[in-house]
Amino acid sequence: MPLLIAIDGPVGAGKSTISDAVAQRLGILHLDTGAMYRAAGLAALRAGVSLDDEQAVSECVGRADISVRYEDGVQRTLLSGEDVTGALRTPEASDAASRVSQYPAVRRKLVEAQQRIARSTSLLMDGRDIGTVVLPDAPVKIYLTATAQARAARRMLQMREKGDQTPFEVILAEVNARDDRDMHRETDPLRQAEDAVVVDSSELNFEETVNAILRIVAERSAEA
Ligand code: DC
Repeated sequence: MPLLIAIDGPVGAGKSTISDAVAQRLGILHLDTGAMYRAAGLAALRAGVSLDDEQAVSECVGRADISVRYEDGVQRTLLSGEDVTGALRTPEASDAASRVSQYPAVRRKLVEAQQRIARSTSLLMDGRDIGTVVLPDAPVKIYLTATAQARAARRMLQMREKGDQTPFEVILAEVNARDDRDMHRETDPLRQAEDAVVVDSSELNFEETVNAILRIVAERSAEA
């Protein structure tokens, strides 16, 4: 039977890198669903539609072909056949993803695509609604979180490495704004599934977080 693991949590909790490491150690694929929402945001940006126009965005994303493929186990995200992986981590793509992901038609399309991928293979999927909506029956669900302060501090470190001197208070305000939007949108907001195990990484380093998740996977898989 394929092994399905759902990891949800707020922005900056380290979901992507932690999920990569956990999936690699388990020898299964990692589907970063945020990349699919980023590709949807990029589709809307490229089409020049207003991100506030729900109908125009929904039609544009509805027409777009958003898919993933794996190269040596690493996810590549495609928009109408073009590999856009390298274009998804910009502030513009982040902002667009956060805005288009509020629209029900966009979510329906991507949720269906994600569920289709999970039918055929063992997978660790990370996002905001995986344990609650995409894979409600996943035997292993993790809610990976950290305090807003800790998440903003990590983000600041990454930014400083790139020479970005944005003040901590500004970064913290952005983290809080993203949390607010992800947790309070009407459709499929970020919330902890009832049967998810919480991992708070505020006081844990990378390795400790990966190991905490691997322990939960082992316990839950043994119970299933
Ligand atoms: O995880 P990320 O930062 O790459 O996600 C980009 C945006 O997409 C973020 O604003 C939340 C949204 N998202 C979502 O609504 N549902 C998901 N399953 C994954 C991401």
